[in-house]
Amino acid sequence: MTAQLDSFYPTQVTFGTHDEIHRAAAAALDSDVFDFVEGGAGKEITLRANLAAFGHWRILPEPMSGVATPSTRTELLGMSLETPVVTAPFGGDALFHPDGHLAVARAAQHRGALSIVPEAGSFSYEEVHTMAPRAARIAQLHPFAHAAAVAERVRRAGFDALCVTVDCPVGGFRTRNMGNRFDPDQRLFAGNLTGENGAPGVAEVFGQLLKQGGSVWNWDQLTAAAADFGLPWIAKGILTPATAERALAAGASALVVSNHGGRQLDPAPASLDMLPGIRAAVGAELPILLDSGIRTGSDVYLALALGADAVIIGRSAIYGLAAAGEAGVDRVLELLTEELRTLMILSGAATIGDIDGTRITGAAS
Ligand SMILES: Cc1cc2nc3c(=O)[nH]c(=O)nc-3n(C[C@H](O)[C@H](O)[C@H](O)COP(=O)(O)O)c2cc1C
Repeated sequence: MTAQLDSFYPTQVTFGTHDEIHRAAAAALDSDVFDFVEGGAGKEITLRANLAAFGHWRILPEPMSGVATPSTRTELLGMSLETPVVTAPFGGDALFHPDGHLAVARAAQHRGALSIVPEAGSFSYEEVHTMAPRAARIAQLHPFAHAAAVAERVRRAGFDALCVTVDCPVGGFRTRNMGNRFDPDQRLFAGNLTGENGAPGVAEVFGQLLKQGGSVWNWDQLTAAAADFGLPWIAKGILTPATAERALAAGASALVVSNHGGRQLDPAPASLDMLPGIRAAVGAELPILLDSGIRTGSDVYLALALGADAVIIGRSAIYGLAAAGEAGVDRVLELLTEELRTLMILSGAATIGDIDGTRITGAAS
């Protein structure tokens, strides 16, 4: 009898693999939009380093561990999650699919994941939260003069936490966009930046972002504003132990170890390479998320083993969104979580908390 190998794999899915989703996204987007997603800053050394860093580690098998049904459940700032994979705040989301973050948040909710809603998104904080209130619980903002007003607004809307992006006082030197003369419609970034009722407009904020010395904030200004946020906040864009300590002194409740997916300072170190030193500096209890370069379940596993409590996916979520809207993001989250679950069985980790440094080893050079 011929073995029916196909029957080992789910057949009712849109996409089988991450690579298929990536190719479908490339096919769905205009080449300059795809470059906007795919590209990084400068010579893209950091972009490549983020991906390469995961290749420096190996997961140790644990045969006969008896682990059959590992749990991917975890908790972050009091929020219960079915998977330690969080979707990133990314602006201009309707460039990739008309449903943008509405679709991302709904997929995250379906998978019991969290979704961070961006300030420069195509939809408002309120619209996304209403669409998927159990996932869209963190609102991202840029630290400028309007931060206190944003905090009040998202508190009223029902969000549980803020994510303050601290590594973007000016947009990185995005070489591909410059080569493409990429000039997207600003309205796609104006879900919150409406320019009405006291809210700044896109041009105003991006003008501030891009204009060195404009109203770019320092830690003291953020510390003062954050005292009135009335919500816990996460500092996104931490890459050194010293900055981690500065963010905690400013009142942050959690950190995102991130180089913005290689889109800001190039050549900055890979996020994964900096994670162990930051974890050692802040101690075992502080919640740490990692982003920049997460593409597969083994990347999730290694980030957790090296000190993260959860990971954030930027481009992987965008590939799913561009490929098939909500169903595409759903499939990305499913693939990442199922691969993580398989690796947990093979390495003998029954819970997310079991994934630690004892289960990995450096690759032989
Ligand atoms: C197209 C695009 C737009 C982004 N926009 C924002 C943004 O508005 N605010 C922000 O904090 N990060 C933004 N990011 C960075 C992501 O939140 C995240 O840090 C990064 O994508 C993680 O790296 P990865 O893409 O390798 O997963 C953006 C990323 C991409 C790819």
